[in-house]
Amino acid sequence: MRTILQINSSLSGANGQSSQLAAQFAAALAASTGASRVVRDLADNPPPHLTAERFAAFTTPAAERTLEQQRHVAESDELIEELRTADVLVLGLPMYNFGIPSTLKAYFDHLARAGVTFRYTASGPVGLLGGRKAYVFATRGGRHAGTARDMQSAYVRQFLGFIGIHDVEFIYAEGLALGDEERSRALAAATARIDQVAA
Ligand SMILES: Cc1cc2nc3c(=O)[nH]c(=O)nc-3n(C[C@H](O)[C@H](O)[C@H](O)COP(=O)(O)O)c2cc1C
Repeated sequence: MRTILQINSSLSGANGQSSQLAAQFAAALAASTGASRVVRDLADNPPPHLTAERFAAFTTPAAERTLEQQRHVAESDELIEELRTADVLVLGLPMYNFGIPSTLKAYFDHLARAGVTFRYTASGPVGLLGGRKAYVFATRGGRHAGTARDMQSAYVRQFLGFIGIHDVEFIYAEGLALGDEERSRALAAATARIDQVAA
């Protein structure tokens, strides 16, 4: 393993609980494997929303792109190359209003590029970023994992699988708003799993 990419998507940046767990894990994994750690914080540096102009830039053949379209594509290319270079993806994933942070959705919208990160075949779409594992640190105020309310986990797993990342482990810290005892228990369980996996 050479490179670990840590993506923080908390609105609180590095101070977010999900970012802290992701950082704890990525640092421990880097220490035990000698891999280098790259951190991208989507609060500090939010990818823009996908607009008609940006999407048109993605789908225009490279030789025909205007200068502005080239700039739009370059922003997406940078995010894709960063992920392509990583052997492991560590994602900090807070739940906001039952979904993923909007910055993370914008990030995903920049990763999903036909012919670059996925392609269509006669038997359906095939992801092109396989061969890497993802660890997702999902923090929630309430408890949702394993229930129909948890559309977030299914969505993230679906999206990562779509671009070829099928090996995904979720580590949950739930019930963080349900009192000190619940919170301590949830964080201790997440830390125990971090110690186990990163050792
Ligand atoms: C704007 C906002 C919306 C939230 N929505 C939910 C929610 O729908 N369900 C839930 O269980 N917790 C919700 N929470 C609680 C967060 O998931 C919880 O505080 C989590 O630890 C935040 O992670 P972070 O510190 O990394 O940002 C919400 C928090 C905020 C700030």
